[in-house]
Amino acid sequence: MTPVLGFFDSGVGGLTVLRRVLERHGPVRCIYLGDTARVPYGSRSAPEIRLIAAEVVGWLRQQGVTTVVMACNTTNALARDVAEGQAGVPVIGLIGAAAAMVREQRVGVLATPATVESGAYRASIEALHPGCLVLERACPDFVPLIEQGLIASDQIRRVAAAYLEPLLASSVEEIILGCTHYPLLVPLLRDLLPPSVRLIDPALGVTQQLDAVLGKPQPCSESAMHLDHCRLCVTADAEGFAERAASWLGKRPAVRLVHLRSSSEGH
Ligand code: DGL
Repeated sequence: MTPVLGFFDSGVGGLTVLRRVLERHGPVRCIYLGDTARVPYGSRSAPEIRLIAAEVVGWLRQQGVTTVVMACNTTNALARDVAEGQAGVPVIGLIGAAAAMVREQRVGVLATPATVESGAYRASIEALHPGCLVLERACPDFVPLIEQGLIASDQIRRVAAAYLEPLLASSVEEIILGCTHYPLLVPLLRDLLPPSVRLIDPALGVTQQLDAVLGKPQPCSESAMHLDHCRLCVTADAEGFAERAASWLGKRPAVRLVHLRSSSEGH
């Protein structure tokens, strides 16, 4: 049976994971759901996030996916068990993959408020690397600014400098991009950080885990990367999503609007 991957996120963030997968595995069949009617997830309560995860994963299951990729740290941190219960197929997440990529002893984590409050990154890193110093920083302004397409604005630069300050003051050696939206900010973050600080994108660990599902990697250059077998869906603003996706995927994708019961009720 040909694998069909089901990706989900609150918006464009999960595309950073999708792109890494396409780069490593060539054309894969997949369905991507950006729950743009409810972005951002990261400022919501744990019960809300768990309800959303149940509904979104239930929808992916109805579409016939054979593996679910949680391309969203917030649901991964708070609702991994919910996703596993709903999916009926294997579920792949980011947080364990990121913890496995840690090499140093002083690690910063940038993530949404809900992810930081869950303590999931700290627990996962400390379990694999006892004695490691983990400094987490909630970044509530990043996702709303990224979803408005303001990734090169002075405003996001100021916000980023403030978020990084305590991590730099504690001399972190590595920083985990603990929200899938944040790889879109790598040029800005690189500009604000000393070259010695390594950035960890958990998506790279996820793509390796997918070797077990997709087989031997078939690396694909950026220019050859194609989306022909990917169905991109959102719960609101298909046009705006397509525009923002274009700058990350290299071409404007076709995007379909879908209705999930509670997202259209404005939950
Ligand atoms: N990109 C998601 C994450 O990795 C969700 C961000 C949000 O909607 O707040 O956490």
